[in-house]
Amino acid sequence: AGQATVEVLGHAYQRDDFTNVTPKILAKVGRNLHNQSHHPLWLIKERIKSHFYSLYTCRGNPLFSVHDNLSPVVTVEQNFDSLLIPPDHPSRKQGDNYYLNRETMLRAHTSAHQRELVRSGLDAFLVAGDVYRRDEIDTSHYPVFHQMEGVRLFSNHQLFQKVENSEDLSLFEAGGRRTPHKQETHSLEAVKLLEFDLKHTLTRLVTHLFGAAVDVRWVDCHFPFTHPSFEMEVRFQGDWMEVLGCGVMEQQLLNAAGAGNKVGWAFGLGLERLAMVLYNIPDIRLFWSQDERFLKQFQVQDIQLPVSFQPLSKYPPLHNDISFWLPTNSQKFIENDFYELVRSIGGDLVEKVSLVDKFQHPRTGRWSRCYRISYRHMERTLTQQEARLVHQQIEHAAEAALGVQGRY
Ligand code: PHE
Repeated sequence: AGQATVEVLGHAYQRDDFTNVTPKILAKVGRNLHNQSHHPLWLIKERIKSHFYSLYTCRGNPLFSVHDNLSPVVTVEQNFDSLLIPPDHPSRKQGDNYYLNRETMLRAHTSAHQRELVRSGLDAFLVAGDVYRRDEIDTSHYPVFHQMEGVRLFSNHQLFQKVENSEDLSLFEAGGRRTPHKQETHSLEAVKLLEFDLKHTLTRLVTHLFGAAVDVRWVDCHFPFTHPSFEMEVRFQGDWMEVLGCGVMEQQLLNAAGAGNKVGWAFGLGLERLAMVLYNIPDIRLFWSQDERFLKQFQVQDIQLPVSFQPLSKYPPLHNDISFWLPTNSQKFIENDFYELVRSIGGDLVEKVSLVDKFQHPRTGRWSRCYRISYRHMERTLTQQEARLVHQQIEHAAEAALGVQGRY
């Protein structure tokens, strides 16, 4: 605080009223877990790369190029506008993103690079990188995680080459309408082939990663940069877990990127989610662990060899509640600001924050909230005194920074 600029990767960015990155987050920029040899995220990235390299070649050369060193600092324009995300879209909220200033941010998804890579002339590429989102706090959410993006474009000839008597088929049709199944400019046959190829490609990928027994299902969903759009879920410990979003790329995006004569699909998958399912990793904070007992389990000779992960014994958690009155204008209270504050003080000791009670004072009308913070150290047992100390700092900081009134 007090400084006029934020420094990230050796660059200084002017602060303004949008700046909301914290030192704890900035400390993660440049860690590049996905490029750290034998880290579980690196291992999954390598397995995905080798799957795409071996399966998709063009005259002996890999079809997909891989980009895993693009800076996570992107313009707001790249992260949102280039993907047709409207100016008033809720995903742009300060409460959900890390802004360096009004123009620049830490990317919220690897899709931020789609347009520049298509514009550079690539027809098939993968992007792996760290992404940043302010979010709730629990065992499967962390403000920094890693994604792998995939894009594949097809010309008329490439898409229809396997279809017999395909001379009369075309990618585009004039005067068409947008329906739940297709964009206005696309022909139905092009979309159906694209959608089939997309789902087939991704099903093969997860079968390669998890084995043939994996249970997969598709859910319709919505993204501003694809239509139609889908989510893939994988069954994990009896529950369905969302692992990726994908769809047929919006033609307007391709037109703007100089690839208006092609159609394409795109997907973005969460590497932590896949790794948690694949290796049975119980807590997302473990990916940041420097503990040898965790890391050495992934030191396989060959990336295709199975890893049998032995979860570190879980040390007991400690729960402490915090209750406060919200500011009289309760709109002023942004839940993610509270999560952020808890995170910036408690760091990785905080496993989960859950809302346990909301209550409105019958006379004053003021709202009170009570949250339960679960503290747990990944590598040893925490003492109640240690947890208390952190908890008190959170209590003080909440009053000072969020305008709440403690009921401590
Ligand atoms: N970028 C989307 C996300 O982070 C995922 C996605 C990528 C969806 C590509 C469609 C196409 O949720």
